[in-house]
Amino acid sequence: MSIVDVKQIVENKKVKLKREILDLRDKGIVPKLAVILANDSDASRVYVGRKRKLCHELGIEETEYLFDEKVTTDNILKVITKLNNDPEVDGILVQLPLFKHLDESRIIDSIVPEKDVDGFSAINVGRLYQGKDEIVPCTPKGVLTILKELEPELKGKNAVVVGRSQIVGKPMAALLLNENMTVTICHSATTNLPEHTRTADVLVVATGIPHLIKENMVKEGAIVIDVGMTRVKEKLVGDVDTENVEKVAKYVTPVPGGVGLTTVYSLAENVVEIAKNRKK
Ligand code: GUN
Repeated sequence: MSIVDVKQIVENKKVKLKREILDLRDKGIVPKLAVILANDSDASRVYVGRKRKLCHELGIEETEYLFDEKVTTDNILKVITKLNNDPEVDGILVQLPLFKHLDESRIIDSIVPEKDVDGFSAINVGRLYQGKDEIVPCTPKGVLTILKELEPELKGKNAVVVGRSQIVGKPMAALLLNENMTVTICHSATTNLPEHTRTADVLVVATGIPHLIKENMVKEGAIVIDVGMTRVKEKLVGDVDTENVEKVAKYVTPVPGGVGLTTVYSLAENVVEIAKNRKK
């Protein structure tokens, strides 16, 4: 029934975050993010460019460490050790995926948990499952921000997450569980997907399969969050057939101009939360 104005939600939140950054800077703390990019895909460059641009706009310092395919796991581990020990660096972000020859989990787990701004390291994943949402992965965190704007009472409602990636599906499910929702995770081996999706008061879809979710798979009045973003003939297409799903859902997030905006915003929020701990 209504396409969510995610841009407006983010713009409103940015005002408050900017103020918090100004307060920190007044106290001599300049929040700082280090970004490691070791992948030559255009999409990764675009995502990193957006993250850096928002940091710049908000007053967060950022530095990029750009590597070509000759880089080794050890080269990156050395840079991370230096950043781990630099008191002026708050957050360290390793853009995924990495070049295939690199050891992704060794690299991610070498970031000290306090600076793991994406919340991807084993320690932070474990903390999320313990219900201590300290540093939460940016995409699920952004989805929760949108949900809280749309629905004040998530507790007790049915959430269905379609997709079980480390970056979105699994942490999303943990986060919704921490909100006391009843959570179902569906994935590529789920039989009869529509039977599950039709139970969802909140449906979060992160599969990368364009227009997977059709009108007959959605409960009347549901909130549908589309995390998918696939380039089809030069157009960005989500996982939800929005034009038709809109007829039954209460809210649907758009693609583009939806969850992508809150992901980038949540990263800035995470950097600021870490920088606040510097004071202590
Ligand atoms: N690749 C796709 N999404 C993300 C993300 O949220 N963080 C990082 N580091 N890499 C990604």
